[in-house]
Amino acid sequence: MTATAPIIRVMTPATSANLGSGFDSLGMALSLYNVFTVTELLPKGEFRSDVIGEGARELTSADSNLVVQSYIDACRMWNVEGQGFGIVSHNVIPLCRGLGSSAGAVVAGVLIADSLCRVGASETDLLRMMTRIEGHPDNVAPCYLGGMTVSAWDGQDLRYVRFPSLPGDMHVVVAVPDVRVRTKDAREALPNKVEFGDAVFNLGRAALLTAAWAAGRWDLLSWGMDDRLHQQYRARLFPGGDVIMDRVRGIPGCLGVAISGSGPSVIALVKGKPRLVAEAMCATFSEYGVDSLFFVLEGNADGARIETRIDARA
Ligand code: HSE
Repeated sequence: MTATAPIIRVMTPATSANLGSGFDSLGMALSLYNVFTVTELLPKGEFRSDVIGEGARELTSADSNLVVQSYIDACRMWNVEGQGFGIVSHNVIPLCRGLGSSAGAVVAGVLIADSLCRVGASETDLLRMMTRIEGHPDNVAPCYLGGMTVSAWDGQDLRYVRFPSLPGDMHVVVAVPDVRVRTKDAREALPNKVEFGDAVFNLGRAALLTAAWAAGRWDLLSWGMDDRLHQQYRARLFPGGDVIMDRVRGIPGCLGVAISGSGPSVIALVKGKPRLVAEAMCATFSEYGVDSLFFVLEGNADGARIETRIDARA
């Protein structure tokens, strides 16, 4: 093999899925990033993986690297011959905390497959592939597109609309407890059936949230992000989960609060000073015996970014 120094770099934002009422359909991109760099081309089937930061101790092989596995899946489903590569992941997004780190890895793997194998997939085809691999669209869509996205997935096909990110005077406070919740467990905690009244409740709230976002009616977020489908069950999966959202709802400037994705992080959309909200969240986790950290973030408008420089082909 004579390939030399291809460089592909993909930067993926963290995401917060559901936004309360929009289970499996709404999500927003956040200003916190992982960066994946393909540093060398290798023969088909050979991969090398180095992880720096989050997951460095556990994601030690290419077999456990979700970017590599998503690349392999995408190549197989596109029916293209994908060669191997070496990749360095700089991970900042906490793992298994409901901030879309897995979705970001899927987005990166699909974008690398599209670029390296010269698939030339459209935006919709890329998102469809990302959703097939991830299983639901509400993290991959905002990760890839940025802003806030509304997506509907029928298991084969996808329809979506992207909305702009939050205005500049709004922050996203994310409190991250030092406990992990696997999405699989958080999904298993949900009931098989829901009351008709609860379904109607969420329908109204998710529709209101989407309309409020489109109209810039940020005063409606607290109603729009309310939920009766999933958060009450998931709040039991982490210490303080039952009380934390009620503790911050009344703080001045806190416009809406939700479990981020499948948890256990909690997000608040805040206008004005975010500090009081962040402190109240972390104080609640401390009260329940859990360490936590917080991020004060902005909405991300641009989504995933890919830079490629392929000097020579194998
Ligand atoms: N919508 C998904 C869930 C997001 O809440 O289970 C998790 O990745």
